[in-house]
Amino acid sequence: MTKYVINGGYKLRGEITISGAKNAAVAIIPAALLVDGTCRIENVPEIRDVTLMLDILRDLGADVRLINRNCVEINASKIRTTKADYDMARMIRASYYLIGALIGRFGSAQVALPGGCNLGDRPIDQHTKAFKLLGANVDVQNGYVIAESVGRLRAASVYLDIVSVGATMNTMLAAVLAEGTTIIENAAKEPHIVDLANFLNSMGANVSGAGTDVIKVRGVKRLDGGNYTIIPDQIEAGTYMAAVTATGGEVLVKNVIPKHLDCITAKLAEMGAEITEFDDALLVKRHGPLQKTNIKTLPYPGFPTDMQPQATVILSMASGMSLVTEGVWDSRYRYVEELRRMGAQIQVDGKTAIVEGVETLTGAPVKACDLRAGAALVIAGLAAKGTTEVENVIYIERGYERLVEKLTAIGARIKKVEMAEGTVIPKAQ
Ligand code: EPU
Repeated sequence: MTKYVINGGYKLRGEITISGAKNAAVAIIPAALLVDGTCRIENVPEIRDVTLMLDILRDLGADVRLINRNCVEINASKIRTTKADYDMARMIRASYYLIGALIGRFGSAQVALPGGCNLGDRPIDQHTKAFKLLGANVDVQNGYVIAESVGRLRAASVYLDIVSVGATMNTMLAAVLAEGTTIIENAAKEPHIVDLANFLNSMGANVSGAGTDVIKVRGVKRLDGGNYTIIPDQIEAGTYMAAVTATGGEVLVKNVIPKHLDCITAKLAEMGAEITEFDDALLVKRHGPLQKTNIKTLPYPGFPTDMQPQATVILSMASGMSLVTEGVWDSRYRYVEELRRMGAQIQVDGKTAIVEGVETLTGAPVKACDLRAGAALVIAGLAAKGTTEVENVIYIERGYERLVEKLTAIGARIKKVEMAEGTVIPKAQ
């Protein structure tokens, strides 16, 4: 068991550098399966979901070489199988991208139904609908999604019933080598969708319109190798910006694309942060009191659901009542119970959290229940009086590179504590 022990109540100060985007990396790595030559991918975050995805590719028979901790070369010309290891694939949500890439290149894919963070019902009906429209047979048997096509996939017009990041990217992956021009309507517009399109285009694909709600994928016969650098992680940046807003202090957040953070910047400013924009950095300060506000999460360019728990922590310390409405996932308030242990006053009514600000949070032992919930509890611990112990940090390490190191460098008192298996935790006297 590993936990983070945080001594809270200290302002953050200094500089922090943002890593490559997790949700771009976990799509771009499987996209390398579509490429004939070697892809060199830079700015790859060193996080558990990426390590797992690279292991899955190795297991399929791809040649995966780590050039350094943030650069990998992948050559998928000698794939051994199109059946992904069941246990590895079901541990990670993004394993669904293997289906699009494998069916697009090899006409066959067998991948366990994906796992990942528990955010309520997470169907993949829009992904399978797109594969079927492109001419694949898709079935679920013995826990695997089995997709097969006779010959090359054929382009189609794909209207997504829901704005889905995963279904948009998976349709792009399946369509890149298909015959003809695929049109994806009601596409998601997140920065990582544009990043995937840029990666594919840099390897010879013909994808246009990424970042708008209509994407055109003109099928090409093959993709060649090349070099690509992943964009900075919008949510990692937002998380550290939220941490500074919660604790107070002054931090320069470097290696960001400020445009991708517009909505987060605007909301943190409403909560009392002062944010100055530079070309590839943001200076975040908070010296005055926290202010209440209301938030509704929406697909990009709306306020990201992946920042909802972190923002709620800030509002839990802002005087007055704030309303937070989750507009993407069915269930993303499981962390609220843990925040209440720290003195937060939050009521959840369906998709809305009613947050009554308290003056201070107080440290407590708490458990992360998913990646962003874990990040939110860390922020709460940094701002709270006293000691907070965050358990289940395995969730946090799925998506944050060297979080303890980065926070320590800006003045946080946070330690990672490994406890030997079987350690008896003494009961309080
Ligand atoms: N949905 C369907 N059917 C589908 C696909 C999605 O009903 O076939 C629904 C979902 O249930 C949800 C909504 O559509 O209510 C949006 O889901 P989306 O497909 O956009 O989510 P995703 O692609 O599975 C990615 C990120 C999530 C992030 C969401 C929304 C990855 C690996 N995951 O998930 O990231 O919350 O987009 O932006 O890219 C995280 O990083 O912490 C995380 C959970």
